[in-house]
Amino acid sequence: MITASIIPSSKKEAICLLDKALSKGDLAELRVDLISDLNILEIGNLFDKKRVIITNRKKDEGGLFEGNESDRLHPLIDAMKLGFGFIDIEHSSIDSLKLLISKKRTLKSETKIILSYHNFQNTPLDMKEIVLQMKDQDVDLIKVVTYANDISDNLIIKDILFLFNDNPRLISFLMGERGEISRVLCNSWGSFTTYAPLKGLDMTAPGQIPLEVLRDIYRVNSIDETFDIYGLIGNPVKESIGYYVHNKLFSYYKMDAVYLNLLVDDLGKFMKVFEDYFKGFCVTMPFKETIIPYLGNIDQMALKIGAVNTIKKNKNELLGTNTDSLGAVYSIEKISTIKDKKVLILGAGGAGKAIAFGVASKLGKIIISNRDHTKAIELAKKLGAETIPWGDRDRVDFDILVNATKIGMSPEEDSCPMKDSFFERDLSGITVFDAVYSPIDTRLLTLSKKQGAKIASGLDMYIGQAMAQFEFWTGITPSYKEMERFSKEAILLRGDKAEN
Ligand SMILES: NC(=O)c1ccc[n+]([C@@H]2O[C@H](COP(=O)([O-])OP(=O)(O)OC[C@H]3O[C@@H](n4cnc5c(N)ncnc54)[C@H](OP(=O)(O)O)[C@@H]3O)[C@@H](O)[C@H]2O)c1
Repeated sequence: MITASIIPSSKKEAICLLDKALSKGDLAELRVDLISDLNILEIGNLFDKKRVIITNRKKDEGGLFEGNESDRLHPLIDAMKLGFGFIDIEHSSIDSLKLLISKKRTLKSETKIILSYHNFQNTPLDMKEIVLQMKDQDVDLIKVVTYANDISDNLIIKDILFLFNDNPRLISFLMGERGEISRVLCNSWGSFTTYAPLKGLDMTAPGQIPLEVLRDIYRVNSIDETFDIYGLIGNPVKESIGYYVHNKLFSYYKMDAVYLNLLVDDLGKFMKVFEDYFKGFCVTMPFKETIIPYLGNIDQMALKIGAVNTIKKNKNELLGTNTDSLGAVYSIEKISTIKDKKVLILGAGGAGKAIAFGVASKLGKIIISNRDHTKAIELAKKLGAETIPWGDRDRVDFDILVNATKIGMSPEEDSCPMKDSFFERDLSGITVFDAVYSPIDTRLLTLSKKQGAKIASGLDMYIGQAMAQFEFWTGITPSYKEMERFSKEAILLRGDKAEN
């Protein structure tokens, strides 16, 4: 169940937002903190009030209500009189709680009281004691929401839901980006509901995921303990589009699986506490190399590149591979063969290495140029390739140009890895591939196309490597058409332009 949480600032806005919240969520939490012209009766008459939680959050609990305690309790008491589904009162307001419990008895109200605890700093180690104290009160539901400072805090919440979720039922998840996975998984761990804001509206707590994303991309209402769990290990992970693409693929192929963003600070600690929990991972910066000692086995390509971007669990062993090289080859070969072609690769970082080994596997003749020339030499040695100093990159002939640097990447989309003079030439017969996919139409690709070059974008590399990841995990080769659709949708959602 997903609860849409809204904080309107007037009665008119409350009516408009509650309509949306109830049409999209299973329940709606109406935060009345800011509504000075509140009319609970009118709201109760207009909506299915059994599905509404009335909350009037005070400042020291992260809310916005500024009046006295008696005024704060008014709407809650009215909501009980009118038979709203739920009211929320904080664990720190013990006198108010007692008053509400006694009112509920006198009114013989069926409104359920949610006793809530918030901690915006951390997830205390004595969480169990706090929950036990809360369970001593005569309430219907207990809500415990704390801040995640480390991804392992999610397991504290999972434990609490497992241990104490009898009577009264618990609602529990974490705030902050490191707690995001609890917002997706808490229902499958036993939470009565998870909370979310509506898309496009202000967040009501840090780390929230929009309701539409929880419902339609993560499929929160379907996830149960039988689901296979995959995730992206990295730092940062926010910009990745994988959460969208892989979850859409799982849904398209009707698979009981979910893919999560895992913001990891301490890789060793993460692998120790979470390894058993996951079926597979994607790996991104800065862990592509440091993950290797945690794996039971890695394939030849990943070994050569010295970096892993995909892991699957096979029985009890973690197997690593690198699909970036497959993605790059896939992207270039859509428009040009590689065998015997002269390929100038700009960049010798993670992408540069993976692309170079992919091109070598297809027998391309490689020339590497990197700002830090020592890295170019080091990579070239492993491949038996040539190098060219960074300042001379415009002076060399080639059939295929690959940009594997960060030049041209948002927010510096006006930059270009080739000098202006390069684009004064007729480039017909040349293939230009840019690994950068944010934006998709980089300056390098746009100018090269104008001069007659055939172009291949980083989006195709993304698609190629993600297809290979999905196949590595599931054995299913996903359809290119769906992959392209999901990737473009994801990029649009992220705010980039996906036209190409
Ligand atoms: N399409 C895909 O699926 C895909 C997959 C992976 C990566 N990528 C993209 O590929 C790009 C590189 O990623 P990465 O993982 O290889 O990063 P990385 O390991 O950090 O390497 C960065 C590379 O860019 C070079 N570079 C950075 N700023 C530069 C500048 N101002 N002038 C010249 N060279 C510069 C670095 O040169 P130095 O060594 O001299 O610092 C290095 O070669 C990123 O845009 C990334 O998004 C795309």
